[in-house]
Amino acid sequence: MVEDFGLHRRRRVLFGTAVDRYERGRPGYPAKVYALLESVCGLGPDVEVLEIGPGPGQVTGPLLDRGARVTAVELSEPMARRLRERYRPAPLAVLLGAFEAVVLPERSFDVVVAAASFHWVPPELGMAKVAAVLRPGGWAALWWSIYTDSEREDPLAEPLRVALRRHAPHLLAAASAGAHPGQAGRHHGLEVDDRLAAFALVGAFEPAQHHLIRWSGRHTAEEVRLLFGTFSPFLALEPGVLDAVLAELGAYVQAQPGGVVERPYLTAVYLARRLGG
Ligand SMILES: C[S@@+](CC[C@H](N)C(=O)[O-])C[C@H]1O[C@@H](n2cnc3c(N)ncnc32)[C@H](O)[C@@H]1O
Repeated sequence: MVEDFGLHRRRRVLFGTAVDRYERGRPGYPAKVYALLESVCGLGPDVEVLEIGPGPGQVTGPLLDRGARVTAVELSEPMARRLRERYRPAPLAVLLGAFEAVVLPERSFDVVVAAASFHWVPPELGMAKVAAVLRPGGWAALWWSIYTDSEREDPLAEPLRVALRRHAPHLLAAASAGAHPGQAGRHHGLEVDDRLAAFALVGAFEPAQHHLIRWSGRHTAEEVRLLFGTFSPFLALEPGVLDAVLAELGAYVQAQPGGVVERPYLTAVYLARRLGG
């Protein structure tokens, strides 16, 4: 599933360089995700949730809004700081560190969530630790949004290819394949068999569920610049190159009717119940 965790290790620290952009640029997740968390995983008042890789809180806010008590483990110090500032004085504990390394109480959480973050955790450690911290009968919920959909027309697909061909051709192959922009191969969220197998492999979960949610996002030029400036392959570009790509995408959107584009998105959700309880 992950061939080169060394690259992941170098890339996963980059989010701390883009806290503002991340907070303003990532669109959050469709309501159906939270409906699944409530109806399947029992999310609600006083439920103890562990959140892995919360960033500036795209998911933390909706969890707190539903009355959950959240412990969030965040690798990046600037992200962790923003999260604390943003949600104080909510029932939120923010732990700084890598999920695989921080000490957490075993069998303590009702739900463990990881949105767009579990691929940043070494696979050989991550799933076993999720199982260890969950109460018997608790739920793991991992999900990813994919900011394009190969089955629907994406008005930014061609402008993106043009901009990458000009400024960052090494990111082009993945963009053409309709994967997460700049990522080699399929998006982690769409590796359905591997994801389901990872739950089965630790021997601590009932068979996992997979849900694919189709939705779309409408963005102004500024929103497109912010969003693309949060993707890790883009964060790894030289600042001048990143600015050039973002400027070109922004100019394309600006020239569209109303200065907006509507893009097809997917959110792939994986839910599994901890055995026992
Ligand atoms: C793509 S962002 C997702 C943020 C948020 N969950 C969301 O859905 O918008 C990934 C976040 O995970 C954090 N992260 C990466 N590796 C981590 C790890 N091993 N343990 C905890 N956090 C990690 C990054 O610092 C970043 O804030």
